[in-house]
Amino acid sequence: MTGYPVQKFLQKTVVVDTNWYVAKEFFPIDKFYYNYVDKIILSNGLIIDRTEKIAQEITRDYYNKDLLMLVIMNGAVKFGSVLSQKITEILRSDIANYYSMNICVEYIDIKSYVDDKSTGDVKIRIDEKIKQKIKNNNVLIVEDIYDSGNSLYHLYNLLNTFEPLSLRSVVLLQKMNTEHLKYNLEIDYLCFLIPNEFVIGFGLDFNDQFRQLNHLCVISKEGIDKFKSK
Ligand code: IMP
Ligand code: MG
Repeated sequence: MTGYPVQKFLQKTVVVDTNWYVAKEFFPIDKFYYNYVDKIILSNGLIIDRTEKIAQEITRDYYNKDLLMLVIMNGAVKFGSVLSQKITEILRSDIANYYSMNICVEYIDIKSYVDDKSTGDVKIRIDEKIKQKIKNNNVLIVEDIYDSGNSLYHLYNLLNTFEPLSLRSVVLLQKMNTEHLKYNLEIDYLCFLIPNEFVIGFGLDFNDQFRQLNHLCVISKEGIDKFKSK
């Protein structure tokens, strides 16, 4: 954890230490993935519970407002779907009929990674109809992981040109990556701060593999060799 301003994060998110890592024998993993996984960082249940808590915070902050959730493909699709489901469950179970929200979910395509390396070159694709929805709306970017900050920095700049009423971000994971940290943006809702490790599962991929793996894991040497780009 040395070198990263962990102190700053202790009040605002769950800080994961390598001591938290769990051997893969202790949780159910699909047979196909088993040899390609080294260790489990966060079990599926833990991720779901933390997402529910963040959903409560978002509902509290946006009730009686319109909300446009912009989910970054493909990595954040799983997280975005659990998050929006949790928000609608909270709204449905509000017996006092106090909270009302008009939620709209859209998807944006951003690419910057090959193998486990960022190419630094960020490609963003947004449909015309989404650009129109952004104008004068409360926009919440839904992202899987914040590493160098490159993707989010360019996305913020681009989205601001479409004049949203407000622009915030909810991110599943932030890496303690002082070496690669390029843009130090403040994430509004962060589920976990994790050690600097290439992670897979719960939507996150290695060359488009492992997105269906239910836990967040560290890839094994065998997994890297099997799926690295030829
Ligand atoms: P950044 O632009 O360097 O902040 O990286 C953000 C993007 O890189 C994320 O949206 C992910 O798609 C991808 N990424 C970064 N680290 C990982 C990782 O450990 N596993 C899988 N994808 C990652
Ligand atoms: Mg991504």
